[in-house]
Amino acid sequence: MSNIQWFPGHMAKARREVTEKLPMVDVVIELVDARIPESSRNPLIDEITQNKRKVIVLNKSDLADSKLTNQWIQHLQTDDMPVVAVDAQHNKGIKQLQQVITKMMAPYFEEQKKKGVKPRAIRLMIIGIPNVGKSTIINRFVGKNQAQTGNKPGVTKQQRWLKIGRDFELLDTPGILWPKFEDPDVGKKLAITGAIKDSLLHMDDLALYLIDYMRQFYPEDLQTRYKISDNDLETLSSVDILLAITKNLGLKDNYDEASLRMMVDYRQDRLGQVTLDRPEVSPV
Ligand code: G4P
Repeated sequence: MSNIQWFPGHMAKARREVTEKLPMVDVVIELVDARIPESSRNPLIDEITQNKRKVIVLNKSDLADSKLTNQWIQHLQTDDMPVVAVDAQHNKGIKQLQQVITKMMAPYFEEQKKKGVKPRAIRLMIIGIPNVGKSTIINRFVGKNQAQTGNKPGVTKQQRWLKIGRDFELLDTPGILWPKFEDPDVGKKLAITGAIKDSLLHMDDLALYLIDYMRQFYPEDLQTRYKISDNDLETLSSVDILLAITKNLGLKDNYDEASLRMMVDYRQDRLGQVTLDRPEVSPV
């Protein structure tokens, strides 16, 4: 893990860019990966976006354990900050997200109306770590409804707004915030889900982490995919299970290749819906 750093330069620049745009928007849509809702959050996000209306979107919910996704929704949501599960890839949850945002803005527009100000489109910005699905969700939002794109003077430069029907305007460039991966487990989870480059970590470390985790929480998925017997699962160490997987995949002793296959299987949803972050407090 020693070669992994939380790049302070990147972070400062990203923070500046996001902070610069915040005054222009009504609602921030914070995208996290539903499989790692905690690890894929930027630790400074709450500080950066404080006093701003915000919705958390658990994206890639098609890849996550739906039971845990519901627990995460309960865990993260507050009276002021709704949480919505979305599968941007298959266009699921986008309508619900738009409804939640409309509801959030209703009191503001009601107040404006009393002052004689007509309602206007709700201005939105998407932020999140790399690869969490920001571009995909922007495309889903725009869909076929995009009437036109326009420019508005920004704080320091021109911003392009995507008009979505009459109700929304979305900044076309999302805010990119970096994950913090000083914690080795967070780094591994980010790498397993594909949020950071594999090359930053040893493949077999990732595979062993996944095996350890799955034998605890998703043993049947692990057994089914890699033909691991009940006895092996109970008695072998995780290293020996990796060797068994390597053999069962016909890779002799090439456990690096087997580890890589496991990562591809995980990312392509061939290991079942496996959520790697678990909320600390379960809802009652
Ligand atoms: P970014 O802008 O935040 O960097 O992320 P981007 O939209 O490029 O999405 C990163 C990858 O995640 C893409 O896959 C995208 O298809 C996938 N993705 C986004 N949302 C979802 C989702 O809700 N579910 C699933 N299963 N995947 C999602 P890719 O392999 O990089 O590209 P491709 O599959 O589009 O070819």
